[in-house]
Amino acid sequence: MNNINVLLLFLHFVLTLVSQGHAQHHLGKEKVTNIDFYYQENLKADPPTAVLVAKPNDTIVNATNSLPYGATFVLDTPLTAEQDPNSEVVGQAQGLVTSAGQNQSLLVFAVDYIFTSGKFKDSSVSVLSRYPIFESTKELAVVGGRGKFRMARGYANVRTIYRNITSGIVIVEYNVTVIHYE
Ligand SMILES: *[C@@H]1O[C@H](CO)[C@@H](O)[C@H](O)[C@H]1NC(C)=O
Ligand SMILES: *[C@@H]1O[C@H](CO)[C@@H](O)[C@H](O)[C@H]1NC(C)=O
Ligand SMILES: *[C@@H]1O[C@H](CO)[C@@H](O)[C@H](O)[C@H]1NC(C)=O
Ligand SMILES: *[C@@H]1O[C@H](CO)[C@@H](O)[C@H](O)[C@H]1NC(C)=O
Ligand SMILES: *[C@@H]1O[C@H](CO)[C@@H](O)[C@H](O)[C@H]1NC(C)=O
Repeated sequence: MNNINVLLLFLHFVLTLVSQGHAQHHLGKEKVTNIDFYYQENLKADPPTAVLVAKPNDTIVNATNSLPYGATFVLDTPLTAEQDPNSEVVGQAQGLVTSAGQNQSLLVFAVDYIFTSGKFKDSSVSVLSRYPIFESTKELAVVGGRGKFRMARGYANVRTIYRNITSGIVIVEYNVTVIHYE
C-alpha cells in the first residue's frame, strides 16, 4: 500500500473508534433537578435506622460520646416528604458513615439515597462527602446516581432541624440539586 492508503485506513479506523465512543452513551439533554426531603434518624427504633458496626478498641460509644474518632455506622434510614416522621416515605438513605475527625465532630458519608415513589422511583443519588456535624448548614457533594440520575453531579444543602439525644431522633432537611440527562 502507498502512504496515502495507509493514512486513509488509519483515519477510517480512528473515525470508527470515535463514532463508536459516541454511540455508546446516548446522553440526552442536560437538565437540573431539585429534590427536597427529610432524613428521619431513629436510633431507638427496632431495628434502629443506624447501627454501630466498628470502633477503635479503646473508645466508648454511648449517648454522650456518640461519635468518637473512628466510629463507623451503617444506615438504612427513611426519607420523608415532610418534616413529620409520619409523613409519606419517599426513599431510603443506605450506606456507611464514619467519624473521621480527630479533634472535631466530623462525619464522612458514603451514602446512596434511593427514591421509592414518584417520578424518581428506583433512581438514586450518591453522596461521598464530609459532614461537619455542628455547622448549622452543610453542603454534601453528589458524585453520581442511578436510573434517571445516571451520571448525575451536584450538591445537597442540609440542615439538622431536630435532634434529641434522649429519644435518639434526628431529622435533617435535604435540598438536593443535581445536573443529569433527560
Ligand atoms: C480490646 O479491648 C479488650 C478489652 O479492653 C481487650 O481485652 C482486647 O485485648 C483488646 N483487643 C485488641 C486487639 O487490642
Ligand atoms: C460515655 O463515655 C464517656 C467517655 O468514655 C464517659 O466519660 C461518660 O461517662 C459515658 N456516659 C455514659 C452515660 O455512660
Ligand atoms: C488533635 O489534637 C491532638 C491533641 O491536642 C494533636 O496532637 C493532634 O495533632 C490534633 N490533630 C489534628 C488533625 O489537628
Ligand atoms: C431548602 O429549601 C427551602 C425552600 O427553598 C428553604 O426554605 C430551606 O431553608 C432550604 N434548606 C436548606 C438546608 O438549604
Ligand atoms: C426528647 O425526647 C424525650 C424522650 O422521648 C422527651 O421526653 C423530650 O421531651 C424530648 N425533648 C425535646 C426537646 O423534644
